[in-house]
Amino acid sequence: MSRMIVPHTTPTPTPTRTVRKAVVPAAGLGTRFLPATKATPKEMLPVVDKPAIQYVVEEAAAAGLDDVLMVTGRHKRAIEDHFDNAYELEQALAAKGDSVRLDAVRDPARLANIHHIRQGEPLGLGHAVLCARRHVGDEPFAVLLGDDLIDPRETLLSTMLDVRDRYAGSVIALMEVPREQIHLYGCAAVEPTGDEGVVRVTGLVEKPSPENAPSAYAVIGRYVLDPAVFDTLERTEPGRGGEIQLTDALQELATGGTVHGVVFDGLRYDTGDKADYLRTVVRLACDRPDLGPEFVGWLKEFVAGLEGGGAADSERLAA
Ligand code: UTP
Repeated sequence: MSRMIVPHTTPTPTPTRTVRKAVVPAAGLGTRFLPATKATPKEMLPVVDKPAIQYVVEEAAAAGLDDVLMVTGRHKRAIEDHFDNAYELEQALAAKGDSVRLDAVRDPARLANIHHIRQGEPLGLGHAVLCARRHVGDEPFAVLLGDDLIDPRETLLSTMLDVRDRYAGSVIALMEVPREQIHLYGCAAVEPTGDEGVVRVTGLVEKPSPENAPSAYAVIGRYVLDPAVFDTLERTEPGRGGEIQLTDALQELATGGTVHGVVFDGLRYDTGDKADYLRTVVRLACDRPDLGPEFVGWLKEFVAGLEGGGAADSERLAA
């Protein structure tokens, strides 16, 4: 049965939490989604009626992280504008008395203290994280990939912050994937900790072939990092694809025994991938109280038509 979407708007930090800042890398080229991403960052593609990156910032805010640094690239403007005030639009909506849309326009800027930094060249995720060094300083911090959505009902990030407080060091999120898909991800070698859902990471390898993968645990786009990662990243040479890989820096930290993994089996969507993007939009639209009932009705009819071998719209239109 589908659950209702109740976005996390109430911060639930534990009093002992040491992490305050989140970094959202959003400077990649988004080549998997061309041509849509030619002039628009993939993180700004709409998921129902909000850009993907807004869900990510909402997730950070819900976990009590009120300082968010966006690492942006050549399409900086669209992301900056989205998390800023929109004076003319707000005036127009206020004049019409349209408080619902006015709130929707104002919400992104109210989520957190949002900062921006530019990654001059997309030299890799590790390099994007290194761009945050001055802003983050000597504190542990979270990294949330701007195109990777965790369902708003999940509490993965809060769990990871708790694990960081318990074990120190860095914490990564892991998801079991079919072996044949592991080449799309960073992959972790792990051993148990005795703590349910928490593993010790003993090694990491970026996008291995299924034969060389140490496990079926894929690294997904949530991290809580110790500031020690910055020194490691400074030394990290370009790796796979000529990019400075965060996985390579974490591999070095893992050999020192300071990386743990939280195993996640909830709902996660990669909106940078076309097929997963479509699934995300459909799933979240079905769950929306304002859109869901009518949309689900239409979807059922559409699927029944496909299954019944009935004329798809495309055939009808071609006739
Ligand atoms: P991806 O590998 O998914 O991003 O990086 P990409 O390179 O834009 O994707 P494709 O394969 O060409 O479609 C994961 C995250 O890291 C960011 C991306 O924006 C994305 O959120 N990233 C990646 C950076 O910020 N800088 C980089 O140099 C690379």
